[in-house]
Amino acid sequence: MSAGYHAVGWSRQKKIYDGVLAGSVGLYLAVFLSIGTVLHPEATAETLLIRAFGTAAFCLLHVILVIGPLCRIDPRFLPLLYNRRHLGVTMCVLAMAHGGFSLFQFHALGVLDPLVSVLVSDGSFREVSTMPFQVFGVAALFILFLMAATSHDFWLANLTAPTWKALHLLVYFAYALLVIHVVFGAARIAHGTWIGGLTGLGAAVLVGLQLIAAGRERPLDEEVKADNSDWVDACAIDEIPEKRAKIVTIGGERIAIFKYDGKVSAVSNICQHQNGPLGEGRILDGCITCPWHGYQYLPDCGASPPPFTEKIPTFAVQLRQGRVLVDRKARPAGTRIEPARIA
Ligand code: HEM
Ligand code: FES
Repeated sequence: MSAGYHAVGWSRQKKIYDGVLAGSVGLYLAVFLSIGTVLHPEATAETLLIRAFGTAAFCLLHVILVIGPLCRIDPRFLPLLYNRRHLGVTMCVLAMAHGGFSLFQFHALGVLDPLVSVLVSDGSFREVSTMPFQVFGVAALFILFLMAATSHDFWLANLTAPTWKALHLLVYFAYALLVIHVVFGAARIAHGTWIGGLTGLGAAVLVGLQLIAAGRERPLDEEVKADNSDWVDACAIDEIPEKRAKIVTIGGERIAIFKYDGKVSAVSNICQHQNGPLGEGRILDGCITCPWHGYQYLPDCGASPPPFTEKIPTFAVQLRQGRVLVDRKARPAGTRIEPARIA
C-alpha cells in the first residue's frame, strides 16, 4: 500500500506462486526444445530458442489475460490474481529473449543497425505472405517492457492509480499487435496455418470469457428502484452475510454495504489500488479487505488504517424495519460516518 517503498515482501504464498511459475516455464521450454530438436533436426539452436521463447511469452500472455475474467466468474481463481504482475514480468523477460535472439539471428549481420534493420527490412505490403510482421512485435515489446518496468507498487504510488491503470490497460493493445505479429509471421512459414488457427482459438477464448464475465456482472448494474428522495431502500439487512457486503447500484455508482459486529456501513465499491470490487471482499481484522491484492479500509470512514493513506468515499446508512436505507449522496473520500446499529 502507500506508506513507503519496500523491495519485495516474500510471503510463503509468493514463494509457492513463483516456484510453480518458474517450474512451468522451465518445463515448457525444455519440452519445446526437445521436441523441436527431434522434429526439426535442420533448425539452428537460435531458431529453436526464438520459437520456444516467443510461444512461451505468447501463451503466458493468454494466461495473464484470462485470469481477470475467470476471477469475475468464480472467486476461487482469486489466488492467481494476487501476484499476477509476477506473470507479467516473467512474460516480458521471455519476450525480450525472443526479440533479442530474433534481432541477433535476422538483423545483426547486415550493414544496417539491427534496430533500424528490424523496422525497414522486413518484407513488403504487396502480398500477405510478405507482410512486415516484426515491427508489430517490436511495438508490443516496447509496451510490455513499460508495463513490467512500472509494475511495482512504488510506481503505482508515484504515477497515481488512474495513470498507472491507463498504462496497464495498454496490455490489450499490445495483445492486438501480437496477434498481427504472429499471424503475419505464420503466413511466411510452411506450418503457419496451425499457428494462425491456435492464435484465433486463443483470441476466441479471451473474448468469450470477457463476455461471460460481463454477463454475470450485469445484474450488479441494475439500479435499485427509488423515488427522488435522498434515502434509497437498498436491501434487507438479512441479505447481507456477516463480515461481508451486498453490492447495490444507486445513481450509476456501485456501493458496497457491509455488515459487521452488529453494525452496517456503506462505502464505494471501487478499490483505490486497481479498481478491485471491495464488496466482494471481507472484513478482516476490522477492515474491509480488497479481494484482489489485500488493500484495507476502515468501514466507517473509508480510510486505510495508519500508516497507509488511501481513502474511498462513504455513504450514510439507516436501518428501518429490517431494511437498509442508503443516502445516495457520496461523502468525500475518508469521511467518517457513524455506522447504523442493528437492534
Ligand atoms: C523485438 C521484438 C520482436 C521481434 C524482432 C520478433 C521477431 C520474430 C520473428 C523473426 C519470428 C519468426 C520466427 C520463426 O522463424 O519462426 C517471430 C515469431 C513469433 N513471435 Fe516474435 N518478435 C518480437 C516480439 C515478440 C513478442 C513481444 C512476442 C510475445 C509476447 C512474440 C511472440 C512471437 C510468437 C508467438 C511467434 C510465432 C512462433 C515462432 O515462429 O517463433 N514476439 N517473432
Ligand atoms: S485492486 Fe488491488 S488491492 Fe484492491
